[in-house]
Amino acid sequence: MNQVKMEDIISLCKRRGFIYQGSDVYGGLSGTWDYGPLGVQLKRNIMQLWWRRFVDERDDIYGVDAAILMNQKVWKASGHVDTFVDPLCEDMVNHRRYRTDHILKDNGIDADGMTMAEMDAAIAEKGIKSPDGNPLSKSRTFNMMFKTHVGATESDDSISYLRPETAQGIFTNFKNVVDSFYPNLPFGIAQQGKAFRNEIAPRDFVFRSREFEQMEIEYFVDPSKWQEAFDELLAATHAFLEELGLKPEYIHELDVPPEDRAHYSKKTIDIEYDYPIGREELMGIAYRTDFDLMNIQRVSNKSMEYTVKGTNTKFVPHVIEPSFGVERALMAVLSGAYREDEQNGEKRVYLALPEHLAPVRFAVSPLLKNKPELVEKAREVYAQLAKANPGRVMWDDNGNIGKRYRRQDEIGTPHCVVIDFQTLEDDTVTVRERDTTEQRRVKVEELV
Ligand code: GAP
Repeated sequence: MNQVKMEDIISLCKRRGFIYQGSDVYGGLSGTWDYGPLGVQLKRNIMQLWWRRFVDERDDIYGVDAAILMNQKVWKASGHVDTFVDPLCEDMVNHRRYRTDHILKDNGIDADGMTMAEMDAAIAEKGIKSPDGNPLSKSRTFNMMFKTHVGATESDDSISYLRPETAQGIFTNFKNVVDSFYPNLPFGIAQQGKAFRNEIAPRDFVFRSREFEQMEIEYFVDPSKWQEAFDELLAATHAFLEELGLKPEYIHELDVPPEDRAHYSKKTIDIEYDYPIGREELMGIAYRTDFDLMNIQRVSNKSMEYTVKGTNTKFVPHVIEPSFGVERALMAVLSGAYREDEQNGEKRVYLALPEHLAPVRFAVSPLLKNKPELVEKAREVYAQLAKANPGRVMWDDNGNIGKRYRRQDEIGTPHCVVIDFQTLEDDTVTVRERDTTEQRRVKVEELV
């Protein structure tokens, strides 16, 4: 069990400039979050690492960046207009609305695989009330897509949606990528970007947000070879999770049983993580068969067939989809890195982030900020380090050295570099390590 408290993570994120409530100054907008300077950098480090491993370093995966607003036919063909729904019930007295499956979960009943009628029956049978103790209405479906209109006139034809997943922007570009690059099967297309879902009950910090980011791959395969692609992508996913610094004992594979899978999926493995809020889904890998490309072919009337090079063999490829939520990865990284210990009788909080993810890699300080010769030398060291580590070196001369260390520990900075009088004599600096708090003297040129 992850013993870290969610309140501690939320409070650190706000205090130190990782994540703020969206529209905070106006009382907030539920389910939205703003990333502060350190949150942006941490998120970027996670996303860049994923892109490097899954796109840059592989010759079988192509990157795209599709538009967020798409033709409404995309969401009709994909089934989102009809079926991207959650069951919603209402407190009959104060009219607050809840997700029926969440109400059941909070009452110790797992609603996975239940129909809406079965959920309502369970509520009636157990006499479950709303969190305010009032009777609940029967459930109805609620579509989670944010609807908007494109252009100056509002009509049925102008309807568009903020995309609820990045995946469809990949599927709709399948033919474009094949025509431009004519890759051999298997090959994948990857995308990172925003997704929007009008969640009935956004909760647990960024875990369930209304606006979030995804990192998704659609990996196209010959149907007879789906299993090996699935296994390879699962192994690559585990390697990536290890690079995020997540403890293996907090990571669990859930082989989703047929009754809980989407009807078109022949296999789905959810990767779950022990968050401070409990064991929850971090990401999923699904074998989606040819469901998506066949839908596009049917609705667009354009062939989605792939022709095997040098042959007349044609077929619509099948798909393996590893789908990551960035916020869930970020929450796993932050909660896994949160530590408390005691230094000289005082409680210390620090984030033991892997060095390649820490938003700030080096903090640079002059020992005394009222000594111009120290400040000048420190600025010189700062400039050298900043050149070698763009965006990841912080100038920190606020408060005394002890306070600086505590602040840097809290944001997970692995190395604090202090320029003192000895630096002026022998060009060495003190480097203080976050995890051990040990200090050593290092030549500036070695450090750079
Ligand atoms: N294309 C498949 C797809 O979107 P999903 O299970 O609905 O599948 C994939 O979403 C991932 O996106 C989830 O595993 C989770 O990490 C993330 N995710 C989904 N809804 C989210 C939300 N409301 N807030 C934050 N992350 C979310």
